[in-house]
Amino acid sequence: MNLALYREFRPKSFEDVVGQDYIIQTLKNQIKTNRLTHAYLFCGPRGTGKTSTAKIFARAVNCTHSIDGEPCNMCAECVALSEPNTDIVEIDAASNNRVEEIRDLREKVNFPPLIGKYKVYIIDEVHMLTDSAFNALLKTLEEPPKHVIFILATTEIHKLPATILSRCTRFDFKLLPINTLVEHLKKVFEKKNITCDEKSLHLIAKAGEGSVRDMLSVADSVASFSNYNITVETTEQVIGLSNKDSIKNILLSIANKDVAGIFVNIKQALGNGKNIQVLCKEMADFIKNLIMVKVGVGDYAVLDILPGEFASIADIAAKFDINYLKQAFNKFSEIELDLKYSLNPENLFESVCLQLVDVGNMPTANATKLTVTAQPKQQEKPTQTLDADKLWGNVLIKVKENNLFALSNALKNVNKVEVANQKLILHTNDLSSHEMIDNQDRINVILRMVNLFDDGITAVEVVYDKDSASTQDIKDNLKEVFKNKIKFKE
Ligand SMILES: Nc1ncnc2c1ncn2[C@@H]1O[C@H](COP(=O)(O)OP(=O)(O)OP(=O)(O)O)[C@@H](O)[C@H]1O
Ligand SMILES: [Mg+2]
Ligand SMILES: [Zn+2]
Repeated sequence: MNLALYREFRPKSFEDVVGQDYIIQTLKNQIKTNRLTHAYLFCGPRGTGKTSTAKIFARAVNCTHSIDGEPCNMCAECVALSEPNTDIVEIDAASNNRVEEIRDLREKVNFPPLIGKYKVYIIDEVHMLTDSAFNALLKTLEEPPKHVIFILATTEIHKLPATILSRCTRFDFKLLPINTLVEHLKKVFEKKNITCDEKSLHLIAKAGEGSVRDMLSVADSVASFSNYNITVETTEQVIGLSNKDSIKNILLSIANKDVAGIFVNIKQALGNGKNIQVLCKEMADFIKNLIMVKVGVGDYAVLDILPGEFASIADIAAKFDINYLKQAFNKFSEIELDLKYSLNPENLFESVCLQLVDVGNMPTANATKLTVTAQPKQQEKPTQTLDADKLWGNVLIKVKENNLFALSNALKNVNKVEVANQKLILHTNDLSSHEMIDNQDRINVILRMVNLFDDGITAVEVVYDKDSASTQDIKDNLKEVFKNKIKFKE
């Protein structure tokens, strides 16, 4: 049996939309101050609230008793617009993509609304329109009748012509962070009287990969399978930890130079119905976790693993040399896009796995020493400096996670860190970053973040030194190790 939770829990007012706070606030403000525009573009990944928000917006602009920009969902207009009606027109561009259909639309938009003040056209999957259909749409967008609002929605913004983009107010819907998904799932289960343990909540939310709809679909299957009493066992049976297991197995057969094993394990992974591109991304993610564990990141908000998994991940990480992991990580990241365009993605993926078998620098069982890079220059450095690097990497991630954007930007120009007498000394050759950081409040913030990882440090100091320009070490190290997590201004 299927509950279709994602249908039942379609948001009915703005406050029900989870995670897209900036967008919702802006839309509400526009309604409150009556500063609507005639064309909106909602872009972003699947199942993040584009269509739902468009429908709420369509009611809100027509609601006669709107409070704080929210539709009241009770007035005559709201009620009429909640049912199928002629004033909210949903067009699926995937199946109505021809120029004739858009021409037809251009005629119809001229008829005034029957219920409220505005007619709202929601054109879903707008990137599917043909070129001539786009041109026809463009004409309407240029001079829309006063009573019409267009909302174009798409998951593939890059396929839209610039002429369309420039005529729309654009909102980028974002994938939702795991914690937000967990909170939302908890509420949904509570309302449905479905019991669920914390770990399963986490597993289900994670399986959604940032999409509320995908998460609720998974939740549906797990709930039905477990007869509304979800346990870790039932969850694992439905979601199948086999994903992670098959990734581990592929990696281990690479490590053991077990070529037959590589082929068998890849087949097995794909046998679970997995797309090769997804498999590749998961390989890269998994290896990234191994790298982070190896360099000493112990924070679950950064590591993409569950608390209970740490020991087993650390075990696997110990089997590999860090340089080897870095190469593997690079390789799988590099081919992710290529796979999409490859005529034979499976062969490409297998060939990368085989290349990794041949890499000279093979994992060794005793390669447990933590080195940040292979260059001998680095290994001669005092251990203290290496520890400082690791510590600093963690701090940078924390700063970013806390949305301290300005500080985070300035800290990117720190190109050397060292610990001396319980003091963390930051060196920068960028004068404006130095000025920005060298302020008691900011130093205190940094110290707090530092103490999350090392409470032996009692002070932070920032030093401006012009000559450190050549000291690229840290930047390079961090860039290599944390690749996607840390970005430097070049
Ligand atoms: N931000 C959100 N808050 C709450 N529920 C959401 C959100 N996003 C998606 N959902 C859930 O997923 C379902 C589908 O959402 P919606 O149709 O708005 O997504 P979408 O972004 O338009 O997806 P697609 O790109 O596939 O069209 C909703 O009915 C709701 O259950
Ligand atoms: Mg949609
Ligand atoms: Zn209303």
